[in-house]
Amino acid sequence: MLPGGRNWWRGSIGYEIYIRSFFDSDGDGMGDLCGISAKLDVLDTLGVDVVWITPFYPSPGKDQGYDVSDYVDVDPAFGTLADFDHLVARATELGMRVFVDIVPNHSSDEHPWFQAAIADVDSPYRQYYIFRDAAPDGGPPNNWVSHFGGPAWTLDPAGTGKYYCHLFLPEQPDLNWANPAVLEEFREILTFWCKRGVDGFRIDVAHGLTKDPQFRDNPQVRPVTPGMHPKDVFASYQHVHDLHRPETTKIFEEWRRIVQPYDAVLLGEMDVRNIERFTEYVDGKGLDAGFVLKLSASNWEAATILSDLMTYVRAAHGGAAWALSNHDQPRAISRFGVGEIGVRRAMAVTALMIALDGITFVYQGEELGLPDAVLTGVAMDPVSTRNDGAAGRDVARGPLPWDSSKLNGFTTAPHTWLDTAPLPAALTVAEQIDDPASTWARYRSMMELRRRLPALWSEPLEIFDRQATSLVLFRGPLTIIANLDDKPFEFIPEGEYLVEFESQPGAAGGDGGPLRIDAESTVIIRRRAD
Ligand code: NOJ
Repeated sequence: MLPGGRNWWRGSIGYEIYIRSFFDSDGDGMGDLCGISAKLDVLDTLGVDVVWITPFYPSPGKDQGYDVSDYVDVDPAFGTLADFDHLVARATELGMRVFVDIVPNHSSDEHPWFQAAIADVDSPYRQYYIFRDAAPDGGPPNNWVSHFGGPAWTLDPAGTGKYYCHLFLPEQPDLNWANPAVLEEFREILTFWCKRGVDGFRIDVAHGLTKDPQFRDNPQVRPVTPGMHPKDVFASYQHVHDLHRPETTKIFEEWRRIVQPYDAVLLGEMDVRNIERFTEYVDGKGLDAGFVLKLSASNWEAATILSDLMTYVRAAHGGAAWALSNHDQPRAISRFGVGEIGVRRAMAVTALMIALDGITFVYQGEELGLPDAVLTGVAMDPVSTRNDGAAGRDVARGPLPWDSSKLNGFTTAPHTWLDTAPLPAALTVAEQIDDPASTWARYRSMMELRRRLPALWSEPLEIFDRQATSLVLFRGPLTIIANLDDKPFEFIPEGEYLVEFESQPGAAGGDGGPLRIDAESTVIIRRRAD
């Protein structure tokens, strides 16, 4: 059981559950809330403190649930509110906490607010969204682009000639956070879930809520060419007017007041490139922590990974959610080099992340060493389906392999919602859970360490040695040696020590001389008590 108080989450282990692909309890090919409840004990054994569950609200599913049409209910595909209550009760029995995913930047176009806004131009709901006059040539009001391709503006279905703003799909109209009524709606929504017992919120697109009041063009940094991936088009602009606005921090100060009586944690999904802005967000008045998203998208560039980690350590003051993977990027193991090498590198970085203050997240399947899924059917991600098959996010979203039965024991249905190639027995939970040498077992010992040795994340951090691709940190009696280099690294510990963790079996060697850390490995040692 984690300690109480506002900062209970510091030093904890989080686990992202991508609900569609976690476990299907009712045989429709899609994961659900009862499926999560049924498997929570496995996560408890693994050592998870907090589960973050991706959206399960009623939704047309145009962006796999990130298009919400009712913020205070459960989509029948995922169960009922009673199933949610049962999940929270089961988590409480196990001493685990539950975070839900809240989507405040946009709703679904099928949300009654948007339907009212386009049915009647005089409706107060019109002000819940962002409608703007067309440019003089009749085109979109400015040069903002959608993350998923095309302009961030679509013509008002009410036929006014105006446009409405959507930083994602046209079916995901952006809410107007300049209108205080929107905050009032979210006051009720946040309170609803707090009262149902949630311990925190993962806030989708937390960096996007407020927009430039003058709706100025974003500066363009490079030309956009036909056929460019939407991600590259998006990166061709500096997002100073549609994202990362200073006004957003004020909104989260209000959110803090709302959730304060329930001690709920506010954890922002913030693709923040401006590091000072990250600090402003997590300064304790607004959000508790923000995801360090850069690491979830990087390839194996050891020096960059280390310098990013240290930059965020300095900026976050403990308010960081560390994660190597999530449902929006190819899996770390595939980004880092498929197979054993990918697992080795992911373990080395994760072992360093558990030695940092904040909350460390594992994305479902990472603990099994899963590579990207091989898709065998139609793509489901709008990034692919709406951009001529462009590389999308489905590869990270394959069903979790529970065992070697049909469809890896994920479902009894003839198909899963996303068809993927079956995974070998060696990558399943059933095979790994009892094998002390498995990736799963090594993740379990890593998580156990964070709980057993709180000095690992709470004692003052001293950087003893910092090279481009290696790092030695002191934390009270502990020394963390992260060697992300492709050659071994030597370190002379002071006095006698115990090896507490090796990201690779046998990574710490040296036969009594200097400690020799294998390439691409992290080792944690503890000074022997005098
Ligand atoms: C971030 C979510 O993680 C992603 O899956 C979603 O498509 C966008 N936000 C839009 O809600």
